[in-house]
Formats: sequence, structure tokens, C-alpha cells
Amino acid sequence: MKNNIIRRFKEIGIIPVIALEHKEDASLLADALCKGGLPAAEITFRTREAAACIKEMRASHPDMLVGAGTILSTAQVDEAISAGAQFIVSPGFDEEVVKYCIQKDIPVVPGTATATDVQAAYKLGLSFVKVFPAEILGGIKMIKAIAAPYNMMTFMPSGGVSEKNMDAYLKEDIILCVGGSWMVKKDLIDNKEFDTIEALSREARSRFEKIRG
Ligand code: 3PG
Repeated sequence: MKNNIIRRFKEIGIIPVIALEHKEDASLLADALCKGGLPAAEITFRTREAAACIKEMRASHPDMLVGAGTILSTAQVDEAISAGAQFIVSPGFDEEVVKYCIQKDIPVVPGTATATDVQAAYKLGLSFVKVFPAEILGGIKMIKAIAAPYNMMTFMPSGGVSEKNMDAYLKEDIILCVGGSWMVKKDLIDNKEFDTIEALSREARSRFEKIRG
């Protein structure tokens, strides 16, 4: 993956994972995240308007890092990239999706849950993968155990990561960044509680800065 994208994941540190129903909310949400210090979004393809939301966010906030999550097929890769997605994330390791992205020079972060998945990603030339669902799999302990033989790999744990446990992940160098939805929960977006989203983002960012400096 291009070094500048890797650097941005690392600098931002916490990637909000968002299921956004209405593109009308995209710009206000992006404002809240940016003001809170988390200028990034993984917009999941779990809603009908996901691509439209990516397009809106990219247009209104060109400096943000905006990508597509829950990408399950090469057709969805095309849809996300046409909308302006800067990276592709999947919950699991899908060789077809990964190879397709590599061939088109699209940054891709596949999900992994086992050493077999990590090795498959490594074999295709990746050095950065998601771990999903991180907490249920065993959290940082499990990731450290899996990472031991693959000292070239870095990880983005997601799934059950929150303000309660993010410190344990971010203390480890093998963790490039974490992903999570705790600052962008559905009810906060539905009720247009953008101030709360901003406050939760700011709190998360300040914890991140305490740990990473
Ligand atoms: C993901 O796709 O990464 C997760 O759904 C985010 O998990 P969380 O909702 O537990 O933060």
C-alpha cells in the first residue's frame, strides 16, 4: 500500500467506522469528526447510500481520509472507488478482492482473524491488515501472539474496540491504528447529535495523543 496512506492511518490513529443511512448527514458528520481531531472515515457498505455518502464526504472535506468498509466483492470495490474512496476495507480475507485492488493499485486493508489469514495477506505483498472482530478474538494478547512470526506486519484492530480498551492496543507498536464505531453510533447520527460525536472524537484523540505523543 502507498506509504502516504499508511502514514495517514498511523497519524490519525483512530478510524471511525460508520454505517451512514443518509447522504445528507455526511458533511455534518465529517465536520464533527474533523473538529474532534479524527479526520477519517471508514464508510461501511452496509447501507444503500454508502457510496453516495463517500462521494459527499470527499466533496465537502477533501482533506479527510475517507474509505469504504464491508467491501465484499470487486463490484463494490469499483462502486466505492468511483465514489472517491481512498481505501478499501473488508471484514474478512477475500483473495479475489485483495488481488483486484493490488492490480489496480488501490489501498486495501483486508480483515484477518487467524495466522492463516495474516500469512495469505503477507503472501500477496500486504504489510497492514485489519483484525476483526478484535475484542472477541482475544484482543491485544491474541494479536501479539499472531504477530510474533510476522514481524513485518502491522494491524488495525476493529470490532469491540472502544474508549475503554483502546489504550491497550495503542501501546503496542504492531498496532498502526484502531478502528471503531463508538463515537459514531447509529442513534447519535439518527438524532443528529453531532456535538456529542465531536466530543467523543476529541476524547478519543486526546487519549491517543497521550499514548503516542
Ligand atoms: C467494523 O466493521 O470494523 C466493525 O463493525 C466496527 O466494530 P464496532 O462497531 O464494534 O466498533
